Amino acid sequence: MKFCIILGTRPEIIKMSPLIRECEKQGLDYFVIHTGQHYSYEMDKIFFEELKLPQPKYYLDVGSGSHGHQTGKMLAGIEDVLVKEKPGIVYVQGDTNTVLAGALVASKLHIPIGHVEAGLRSFDRSMPEEINRVVADHVSDYLFAPTEASKALLLKEGIPESKIFVTGNTVVDAVYENSKIAVNSDVLSKLGLKPREYMLSTLHRQENVDDKARLSEIIQGLGEVSRKYGMPIVLPIHPRTKKMMNEFSLQPPAGIMMIEPLGFMEFLKAESNARLVLTDSGGVQEECCILGVPCVTIRENTERPETVDVGANVLAGYKCQNIVNCAGMMMNKNNGWVNPFGDGRTGKRIIQLSRGIGCCIISL
Ligand code: UD1
Ligand code: UDP
Repeated sequence: MKFCIILGTRPEIIKMSPLIRECEKQGLDYFVIHTGQHYSYEMDKIFFEELKLPQPKYYLDVGSGSHGHQTGKMLAGIEDVLVKEKPGIVYVQGDTNTVLAGALVASKLHIPIGHVEAGLRSFDRSMPEEINRVVADHVSDYLFAPTEASKALLLKEGIPESKIFVTGNTVVDAVYENSKIAVNSDVLSKLGLKPREYMLSTLHRQENVDDKARLSEIIQGLGEVSRKYGMPIVLPIHPRTKKMMNEFSLQPPAGIMMIEPLGFMEFLKAESNARLVLTDSGGVQEECCILGVPCVTIRENTERPETVDVGANVLAGYKCQNIVNCAGMMMNKNNGWVNPFGDGRTGKRIIQLSRGIGCCIISL
């Protein structure tokens, strides 16, 4: 059987890397389609280099655009490849436009779809990601849910239990495998930081950064947290956020160290040594929970409620004062929680399940 892995953005490269590694290890007939949704060196190629991933067989070069234009280009490009290659299974991961396009094309071609990180819900349809993940789940044949809670959400939506497999999240595999390498990163000394004496922040959610009032409020909140606790906040700036800050003529306040996006090793090192992380990223919420670093999520909701339930994360919304209050709550948090996202063998588990090894679930 031929395996196809579709990816296109920074988090998909990181979270699909355990599957790619497993395909390589088992000598499987597989290929990767990169849609080109992310294309800047520090959002794309750096991860292939650091994670030592082979080059994708197909690069679609769709680039940026409105949701419709971007997804439309992906649909056409992915269809051409899948018609030619005829894979036995297509994997998509997460909730980006790349996932939506990959899942739609494969479903119309009647190619079985494996959705990695299935069953996440924010219950907020104003987020493009929520629409993408709901559609992907409902056209998928194999739903690889990270936790029992995500499985329960899928069952509630009427998805048959026979399609759902609780596997953990591949982010754990990526963190465990790469933390060993990341410890050697010199990012802290390069930035003049000492462990636990700084905070780390990332921002890129469309609803947070495309709205001037909301982005200003968040930036002001970060400035206030930095001032109150006398610690710098490192902000590796996502290209979307950089573009919007320029467009809105917003400057980072004192205490905010705005830098270019970091590679995965540098980011893991900065994340694991931070006193506190303030973010609107999905993957960063999970990684903090895995690494034992308290997290303040700059959103009203999260599709990762497990992180809140174990006490690793708190939802602050976007208001300056709430961000400051939540930072205060999490600053001295005891980090004895248990990681709810699995044992770091999710990539292997997904490939084994797909091959029918152990429990013969897939007949292709
Ligand atoms: C996308 C995903 C989001 C995911 C995020 C991960 C969708 C709808 N959104 O958001 O779910 O959390 O990736 O980071 O799929 N840009 C560059 N260089 C790049 C990529 C983007 O400069 O390599 C800039 C462009 O100005 C572009 C903007 O960032 O218009 C937004 O990029 P896009 O891929 O549309 O959405 P993200 O915000 O990255
Ligand atoms: N990340 C990184 N460098 C950075 C910021 C984030 O390598 O400067 C990694 C981070 O470790 C995580 C992933 O990017 O694995 C999260 O991606 P992002 O926040 O862009 O997307 P989301 O997870 O919200 O979809």
